[in-house]
Amino acid sequence: MSKRLSSKSNIWLTGASSGIGEAVARELANHGHNLIITGRRQEALEALASGHPGQMVSAAADTTVEADLAGIQETLGHFGDLDMAILNAGTCEYLDVANYDSKIIEANIMTNVVGTARSVDIALPALRATRAKGKPATLVIVSSSAWWFPFARAEGYGASKAALTYFAQALRADLAAEGIDVVVVSPGFVKTPLTDRNDFPMPFIISAEDAATRIRTGLEKGRSEIAFPRRFTWTLKALGALPQSIIDRMAASMARKDNH
Ligand SMILES: NC(=O)c1ccc[n+]([C@@H]2O[C@H](COP(=O)([O-])OP(=O)(O)OC[C@H]3O[C@@H](n4cnc5c(N)ncnc54)[C@H](OP(=O)(O)O)[C@@H]3O)[C@@H](O)[C@H]2O)c1
Repeated sequence: MSKRLSSKSNIWLTGASSGIGEAVARELANHGHNLIITGRRQEALEALASGHPGQMVSAAADTTVEADLAGIQETLGHFGDLDMAILNAGTCEYLDVANYDSKIIEANIMTNVVGTARSVDIALPALRATRAKGKPATLVIVSSSAWWFPFARAEGYGASKAALTYFAQALRADLAAEGIDVVVVSPGFVKTPLTDRNDFPMPFIISAEDAATRIRTGLEKGRSEIAFPRRFTWTLKALGALPQSIIDRMAASMARKDNH
């Protein structure tokens, strides 16, 4: 039986000011845990924290900026030893291939990969200190299942999440000897401000609250890979097992015809 989240835990959560992160913050607070919540928008963080007095403290930071992260490092100890860090802050910027611009790729990589890697700079020492006391310590990285199929326009987003998943899984191997768990969360479509901008069909989309419950229960069960909803992730896995030439034809047929 997993010990994770079995007692009141102190959790750092990035990307808490909207969408999945905000729902995860509420879900974990409602289950008795303490949260240090991060995002760039201080007001949104404070509004969230005010609904859970004594259980949430805001620590505004841009996760791509090392100085911002250094500025909140001490706050990670606000409630005592840090039991878990959930690195969820992310962005999704689509490429318009007719106006190809590598800045789109860079923006996705900067927030999703570099921002997460920089967050680990401050999360890891805190988790190591907790682990040194014999307590469980968990690093959770919110990736995506989007990169399992070569979706048109997702060159930047998919590349960033493929890199992020590799980063997390390799870190899992490196930290295994220290007993620090690394968990990868790979959601399908979740209704949030990020996906509200999409103008294409999003099969099997779920609410942010549903996503938050699935993340909490997956963590409690001790899972190291949490992917949902299964209808979507299994479909992607099945498609991924097809020969590349068939995948390429399907992907091209799904691409917009007005982008050349
Ligand atoms: N929604 C989906 O369908 C879906 C599917 C798979 C994976 N995901 C992943 O889930 C995570 C959350 O996405 P979401 O859908 O909930 O999007 P969202 O509503 O846009 O939330 C993104 C969060 O990340 C924060 N953030 C973005 N850039 C940041 C930065 N540089 N520094 C600090 N915080 C930053 C935002 O806060 P501020 O604006 O206040 O900084 C916000 O709280 C992302 O990693 C996303 O890739 C989402």
